[in-house]
Amino acid sequence: MDIIHSAAALRERLRREPNNVFVPTMGNLHEGHIELIRIAKPRAACTVVSIFVNRLQFGPREDFDRYPRTLSVDAARLQEVGVDVVFAPDEHEIYPEPQTFVVEPSDLQHILEGAHRPGHFRGVATVVLKLFNLVWPHSAIFGKKDYQQYLVLRDMVKQFALPIEIIPAETVRASDGLALSSRNAYLTPEERAEAPRLYRVLREGQRQLREGAHDYQRVELEAMAELAHNGWRPDYIAVRRQADLQPPSNGDSDLVILAAARIGRTRLIDNVEVTR
Ligand code: PAJ
Repeated sequence: MDIIHSAAALRERLRREPNNVFVPTMGNLHEGHIELIRIAKPRAACTVVSIFVNRLQFGPREDFDRYPRTLSVDAARLQEVGVDVVFAPDEHEIYPEPQTFVVEPSDLQHILEGAHRPGHFRGVATVVLKLFNLVWPHSAIFGKKDYQQYLVLRDMVKQFALPIEIIPAETVRASDGLALSSRNAYLTPEERAEAPRLYRVLREGQRQLREGAHDYQRVELEAMAELAHNGWRPDYIAVRRQADLQPPSNGDSDLVILAAARIGRTRLIDNVEVTR
């Protein structure tokens, strides 16, 4: 496994790799990331993983500075699972000068996560396009844990006719249901014990929808109330269409319930799909 820090060295290394698959990450790897790599590996001769905490996608009051950076532990794990190339650039490799050209996603960037994190998806799309241009993979794997991110990037690839297949991966969870996330490391033991409630309320919403509930607002409000009652500060719980995250009309059958909520100082997101 090669660990590469500069864009020039990456280009050089990948010049002899016409067949590669890409898993972009911000590091501090957990089983969710590793699952993406397991999906990636059989699809190409060369598996490339990037580790880059992208300042552009963090808001001014967000956790860019305290985001966990664990490169040597991550690299050991990547070696174990058989990754071929790790790209872990310094910030000045990706942003040698201020990034003045950006990718401006569609209106999808302004709802849900985007409404609470202005500029977030612009930052994600911009860095992912840049990484795609460096790695030039035929496929890239993204987790449905970040459902809206997956949809924004799927749109980007389509709109710019990039010859890259975007492959979604299911959310990997701890045994108590909590979706794995690097941000779980911020939770105190008490918060960690409470955290699976987020998934439980989503499952309850899923059950109601499966049983035919059409009053989406009621499903959302009940879930938010349950969280608030237990000390959470929910940003949103929303029943949406899987295809475009717009509010469903009664004929829509492929739905997703998306949630973001704060517990203590930590903001967690999760979602469950519902097909009926
Ligand atoms: P990061 O949060 O490190 O996530 C990297 C990839 O792992 C994303 O595709 C994310 O959806 C996926 N992932 C995270 N937790 C998961 C889980 N529990 N189950 C399945 N997949 C999971 O997402 C980013 O980084 C960044 O925005 C990035 C795309 C790298 C751009 O900077």
